[in-house]
Amino acid sequence: MPGSPVRRMADAAWDALVAHAPHVRDRTLKELFATEPDRARMHVEAAGWYLDYAKQRVSTETKRLLLALVEARDLRGRIDAMFRGEHINVTEDRAVLHVALRMPKGTQLVVDGVDVVAEVHRVLDRMSTFASAVRDGSHVGHTGRRIRNVVNIGIGGSDLGPAMAYDALHSYSRRDMRFRFVSNVDGADLIDALEGLDAAETLFIVSSKTFTTLETLSNARAARAWLLAALGGDEAAIAKHFVAVSTNAEKVAEFGIDTANMFEFWDWVGGRYSMWSAIGLSVMLAVGPDNFRDLLAGAHAMDEHFRTAPLDANIPVIMGLLCCWYRDFLDAQTQAVVPYANALVKLPSYLQQLEMESNGKSVRTDGSPVDVPTGEIVWGTVGTNGQHAYFQLLHQGTTLVPIDFIGFDRPQPDRELGDQQDLLVANLFAQAEGLAFGTDDPSLPPYRVMPGNRPSSTLMASQLTPFALGALVAAYEHKVMTLGTIWGIDSFDQWGVELGKKLAQKIAAEIAAADDSDLAHDPSTNALIRRYRRRSS
Ligand code: F6P
Repeated sequence: MPGSPVRRMADAAWDALVAHAPHVRDRTLKELFATEPDRARMHVEAAGWYLDYAKQRVSTETKRLLLALVEARDLRGRIDAMFRGEHINVTEDRAVLHVALRMPKGTQLVVDGVDVVAEVHRVLDRMSTFASAVRDGSHVGHTGRRIRNVVNIGIGGSDLGPAMAYDALHSYSRRDMRFRFVSNVDGADLIDALEGLDAAETLFIVSSKTFTTLETLSNARAARAWLLAALGGDEAAIAKHFVAVSTNAEKVAEFGIDTANMFEFWDWVGGRYSMWSAIGLSVMLAVGPDNFRDLLAGAHAMDEHFRTAPLDANIPVIMGLLCCWYRDFLDAQTQAVVPYANALVKLPSYLQQLEMESNGKSVRTDGSPVDVPTGEIVWGTVGTNGQHAYFQLLHQGTTLVPIDFIGFDRPQPDRELGDQQDLLVANLFAQAEGLAFGTDDPSLPPYRVMPGNRPSSTLMASQLTPFALGALVAAYEHKVMTLGTIWGIDSFDQWGVELGKKLAQKIAAEIAAADDSDLAHDPSTNALIRRYRRRSS
């Protein structure tokens, strides 16, 4: 366990923040607003998003010191290195080029002798052709019936991005098609997803960067058996009903999907940064190639903002600095994300993988142990639902939880119901205000007092369009990189999940084995395995 790290990073920029923190820790947002009347200027606007961070517990001096920290860490140099395609994912010796996935056609980025943008657009064009053929009915199933159901099988980055984006952009999607997302190795997930589907009208997208992931392969095998059973066992049906998205052509072929039906991506795309690649095929099928390209355009607009805007007026940089401030200097462990848009219901789960798999690290890129807290715990649900669940703790509890509120000026097309949009946004603004300033009535009994001083940012865009979604997700990606740079960690590997995968495979074999006499785990695990073997057979 990382335990209680020593809060030092042994450099002047960090030490200045350590010395400064006690001066802000005891000041309330009310006091900060009273002494810094120009706090309303604490906002930035870019790529269609407006970030208001005036209700954060930072003074002008805090901001100056945080910016000095990120300059001392050479964030600008690291951003440039990423955009040049340098191998900044050092533990895997890979470039980190999800930004190339949204570069416009005609841009050139040569990495290791290959123009990666040309490659990206070659695959995007193939995806568009395929998606259009399915959508217009020219690609039909094995029996000649039109494809009306699309089931994406993947997990982690091969599931959360498309599933989140599909929900977010449902308003733009085909209503005569059904889209389902299967991830869990729990058979209930696939069984529920297949409920009511006609195999003759169903397309499976098996999405896996490595094509070795246990859950995905196991679900894909079960889906294959379901399809063949329904279509009379003719193996030729696979070609019409299964496509693969992967970097691993060999494993795709080994599984039995013709690589002509594979949409590729590259090892310089991390799993949790891959929704912009062919991993987004299900989203493209739902919203169409033009809307998918708008999603990419929004992300690219945020990329350009991150790459070129001054650090003190840079949305992802400010988001990252605020997170570092709370995590490292004010002892916050978590960060809530509360979108006031039902379509963003899966955004908190998506961000959990993005932020926690990226920055949940305790070793620096040079191999030395991290000696400050890293990686905040991300959680949240949509507003207003959260207000009637956990907001009580946010208002009156004893834990500091910085919040990102997310809202829109207008509802999505076809999502307007009377004055409900105004009520939704009124609630967002009310919560941010109430949390920051609390109650102001000295006659209230203690249990009715809201102390306030609970910080939040508010992110607003005009509407939840594909462009706005792309820009929002890219902002969080770059926030993650900003933090990784400050902490000196590799935000692009995920070695921590490997141990669990290996152990699960070993235990699965032990559960299936003829006898359990040679189990060599700890006594607790041995007993659990034996008990399960007895009771499950
Ligand atoms: O959980 C670890 C992980 O490697 C994630 O980073 C990744 O998104 C997920 O598994 C799925 O991996 P794959 O796309 O290779 O099946």
